[in-house]
Amino acid sequence: MINKIESKLKIEDLTQKINSHNLAYYVSDKSVVSDYEFDLLLKELEELEKEYPDLILPDSPTQKVGGTTIDKFITEPHLFPMYSLGNTYSFQELDEFENRIVKIVGVNPKYSLELKYDGAAVSLLYSDGILTRALSRGDGINGDNITHNIKTISSIPKKLKGTDWPKIFEIRGEVFVQKNDFEAINNYRIEEELQPYANPRNFASGSLKLLDSAEVKKRKLSCIFYFIATQEAGLNTQIESLNKAKKWGFNVSEYTKGPLSLTEAKEFILNTESERDTLPFEIDGIVLKVNDFKLQDELGFTTKNPRWAISYKYKAQEAKTKLLSIDYQIGRTGAITPVANLEPVHLAGTTIRRASLYNEAEIIRLDLHENDTVIIEKGGEIIPKITGVDLTKRVQKSKVFTFASFCPECNSTLIKAPENAIYYCLNDENCPPQIKGKIEHFVGRKMMNIEYLGKETIDQLFEVKMIRNVSDLYTLTKAKLVSLDRMGEKSIENLLTGLENSKQIPFEKVLFAIGIRHVGETVAKKLTKYFTSIDNLQQATLEEIASIRDIGLKIAESIVHWFSKKSNLDLLENLKDAGLQFKLRSENSQLGSSLKGYTFVVSGVFENFDRETIKSFIEKNGGNVVSSVSKKLDFLLTGINPGSSKVEKAVANNIKIITETELLKMVNEYETN
Ligand code: IVH
Repeated sequence: MINKIESKLKIEDLTQKINSHNLAYYVSDKSVVSDYEFDLLLKELEELEKEYPDLILPDSPTQKVGGTTIDKFITEPHLFPMYSLGNTYSFQELDEFENRIVKIVGVNPKYSLELKYDGAAVSLLYSDGILTRALSRGDGINGDNITHNIKTISSIPKKLKGTDWPKIFEIRGEVFVQKNDFEAINNYRIEEELQPYANPRNFASGSLKLLDSAEVKKRKLSCIFYFIATQEAGLNTQIESLNKAKKWGFNVSEYTKGPLSLTEAKEFILNTESERDTLPFEIDGIVLKVNDFKLQDELGFTTKNPRWAISYKYKAQEAKTKLLSIDYQIGRTGAITPVANLEPVHLAGTTIRRASLYNEAEIIRLDLHENDTVIIEKGGEIIPKITGVDLTKRVQKSKVFTFASFCPECNSTLIKAPENAIYYCLNDENCPPQIKGKIEHFVGRKMMNIEYLGKETIDQLFEVKMIRNVSDLYTLTKAKLVSLDRMGEKSIENLLTGLENSKQIPFEKVLFAIGIRHVGETVAKKLTKYFTSIDNLQQATLEEIASIRDIGLKIAESIVHWFSKKSNLDLLENLKDAGLQFKLRSENSQLGSSLKGYTFVVSGVFENFDRETIKSFIEKNGGNVVSSVSKKLDFLLTGINPGSSKVEKAVANNIKIITETELLKMVNEYETN
C-alpha cells in the first residue's frame, strides 16, 4: 500500500493524464490510448480517490462524464458587433430595399444570394490562422464563450489552410443539424422515451448551450460560414470572401449564387422555395447581400441591421384545422404517447391527419379543448406539431382534454413516472401493443434483422396465439405456418430462413434486440465490449455496470432490474436454447481478400449496412479504409447524402466513385471467379 504523499502525486498525475486523453478524444477527435488502457487509468484513479476522498481534485475526470465540462458560460464582447438582418415576406419590400440603396449609392447593385440556414449563429475568432475563441450571438454585443463546444465540430478548422487570411478576424456562421440526422436523433429519443426536440433550430442552439462538450460531440452538428468581419484590407466582394473562406478550410454553402441583379434574385428565391423541401437541412429564407464591399461601406448600418443586406423569409408552413380526438399510443416499454387526430388538411405538399402531442404537459400547455381549431406547423419534425389554438373559434363551454387514466388496450391503470412525467401502462407481459412492440423491435433491421417479418405478420401470429414473446419466434415451423391465411410457401420459407440467419447475429445486436430499457444500440456495444457475454453481464453488480464510461446509474438500474425478473430469465434460457449469440465472437474473422490492395473512403448513409459495418466488411475482405480523400485513394464509396467536399475532391482527383451495390458486386465477382 502506498502512503498518502505518494497517493497525492499519483492522483495528480492520473488526473492530468486522463484529462488530456479526454481532451484529445472529445475535442481534437484523436484517441491516444485504447479504451481499455483508458479504463485502467480511470479505475486506478477511482480506487485511490476512494481511499483518500480528501485528495480528489476539482478537475478530476471521475467527477464528470468526459470532454471539457464547464460550470457556466463566460460572457465576452464580440470584436465586431453581430448585427441581425431586416426581414421581408414580399417582393414589393425587396424593391423598396433596393430603392433605398439606389438613393444612397446611385447604382443598382448586384447581390450575393445565400440560403438562410435555420440554426444558431456563432462567431469564431482566428488569430494567426488559429481558432482562438468562439462566441454565441448573445445580444449581438456580448456573447457566451462556447469554444469548448465549437471545437467538437470536426468540420470547423482549428488551423487554417493557406496564408492569405487576415491576421485577426471573426468569421460568422450558422451551426445546424441535417434533417436526416435530426430525425434519427428524435427517433432515438422517442425510443428511449425522452422528449423529442421541437425543431432543428432549438436542437442546434440547445446543443451549444451544453456544459459538457462530450455530449455536444455526439450531436452531429455542422457549421456553414457566411460573413467575415475584419479591419484588414484585402477582400473586395462577398462572393470573393466566401471563396477565400472555402480555400482556408471553412465550410461555405454550395448553394450561394451571384453576383445577381434583383430580378435574377427574385427568380432564385422562387426556385429555391419550390425545392425547399428537398434540401437536406432546414432554411427559413434567402439572404440578399450587396456583393461589392465598397458599396456596403457606403451604405453602412442602422442601429440594428446592415443597410446592404436583407432576408427574404419564406412563410411558415402553417395551417389551421379541427382537432377531432386524441389517441393514446402504447410503446413497447408501455410509455403512452398522445396523438391528435385532425380533420385532414393540406400542408407543405402532404395531407396531414395526425399531429404529435408528446406528453401530458404539452396538452396542458396548449390548453386543448374538445372541438378546438388548432394551428399546425411543419418544420423539421417527423410529424407536424400543434403550435396553438385559434381561440376565436373555440366552442363555448367545450370540455378541456384530460389525459387518459386507463390503458386503451388492456384497461390497466396508467401510472405517471416521477422521473420523466410520462404515463406508463405497467402491464408489460399482457398488454398486446407492448408485446407486439417488443417483437417488432427485436426483428428490426438494426437488431436481429429478420426480413419478411413485418408488423402485419407479427399481428397475425399474435392473433392466432402462436407468439407471445420473442423466443416463441424460434418455435415456428413450416407445419404451424401453413395454417395461416395469406402465408404462401415462399413467404414461409423466407421467414424461416430469416429466423435461422438471425442466429448468427452478433451478441451486441442481440443485447440491443432483447429490449432492456435504456439499452440502445450504443449502450449495447459498450456493454458487449466490457462484459463480452450475457452471463458476465447478468452477474455484474449495479456499481460495476454504473462504473463503465458513459453508462449511468439509470441504465445500470434498468439492467439489474431486467435480470431480476423470472420471465426475462426464462426468455433468455429459451433464446439460448434456440442458438442465439450471447457471447462476443472474435473480431478478426476474415471473409476474403477480394479488396486487397485497395483503399476506400466511406461517406453517406447506406441501405444494407450501417457505416461501421460497411467499413469492417471492407476490411474483412482485405481492403483498407481511410478517412480523407487523397490522390492515392482507389475508391470513394458513397451512400445517400455523401459529404459534398469528399465527392468534389474525388472528382477533382479522378477517383472512382462507387455505390454499395457496386462494392458488393466487386466482392461477389471475385469470390465466384
Ligand atoms: S448574414 C450582418 N447570412 O440569420 C450580417 N445570416 O436574421 C448578418 N443566417 O443572425 C448575418 N444564414 O444567424 C447571414 N447566409 C446567411 C445566413 C444568416 C442564416 C442567420 C444568422 C443571423 C440571422 C439574421
